[in-house]
Amino acid sequence: MRLVIRPDPEAASRYIANYIVDRINAFAPSAERPFVLGLPTGSSPLLIYRFLIAAYAAGRVSFRDVVTFNMDEYVALPRDHPESYHSFMFTNFFSHIDIPASQVHILDGNPPDNDYAAECLRYEAAIREVGGIELFLGGVGSDGHIAFNEPGSSLASRTRIKSLAPETRRANARFFGNNPEAVPQMALTVGVATVMDAREVVIVATGASKASAIQQAVEGSVSHMCTLSCLQMHPCSLVVVDEEATLECKVKTVQYFRGVEQTAREASQVQSAVAATAIAQTPPPRLHTLNTNVAMADAADGELTPDSMSSRISPSPKMKMLSVRSATIPFALMRQQS
Ligand code: GLP
Repeated sequence: MRLVIRPDPEAASRYIANYIVDRINAFAPSAERPFVLGLPTGSSPLLIYRFLIAAYAAGRVSFRDVVTFNMDEYVALPRDHPESYHSFMFTNFFSHIDIPASQVHILDGNPPDNDYAAECLRYEAAIREVGGIELFLGGVGSDGHIAFNEPGSSLASRTRIKSLAPETRRANARFFGNNPEAVPQMALTVGVATVMDAREVVIVATGASKASAIQQAVEGSVSHMCTLSCLQMHPCSLVVVDEEATLECKVKTVQYFRGVEQTAREASQVQSAVAATAIAQTPPPRLHTLNTNVAMADAADGELTPDSMSSRISPSPKMKMLSVRSATIPFALMRQQS
């Protein structure tokens, strides 16, 4: 797991939006081979969606060949209710980009005959059919839940119906006239294992209310009481936070991850300089040899290897890996500006 710390929610969101844009562009999706993106709702991703919309408007990215799967949806809330996750996603994102509606997948909280089990099976099958999720973007609840996998959820869980914890209903009451009772009691949600199946998971967490969850997920043990902690077992997970969300982490932890990023940035500059010099000095026939030499380093420790990270991403120099301290960091990551 990597932890990227930015000063405030805006910088954290911009980092993630740029990261996603780079991922989509590096993948070079087509109609036959779309980029499959998992998406969350909540306040935390809102700024990310705004930055992604701006990137689309500026011509930096297209979502024409992107297929999306949302994490969850309330049960029995009408689809056109302003607080349904269908409404949320179209209002805040899909209506502003070029994704065809047929490529958007959101769980149906009102399935035929209220057959929630069938709806969840259908959703898992649809994910499989399109080849799995390339990048799952997620938020986190104040109790450490990922999607709606509340404390105690099986870390092997799949898409299913879940009752919502009182803390979650209280937290989401702000969208329902500040009345926790008005928040639906149940939701359909992808499981922890569904998220873990994604080739890459990126989490956003901002604000002091997420500090305890981040501390548990980053410094604590893997536990079903904080389902976000499952990401410690994921070969390619990235948690992007603002400073407030680190308030309960040890200073030592924060410094460690800042150091990892700093080292990676410096290594990236060295690598760029070496590559530029090598290309400038070398006649074309020898480029292949040289490229191999300056690739510097496929992962030494098995973490974030090209295999686990980018098996479906078009080979690109951007995706070369560098081993830095104990972390192995994708080259693309190190180019990100805050
Ligand atoms: C809900 C969603 C989660 C989201 C969480 C945090 O519980 N199901 O996917 O991560 O809210 O939301 P917010 O970003 O508003 O704090």
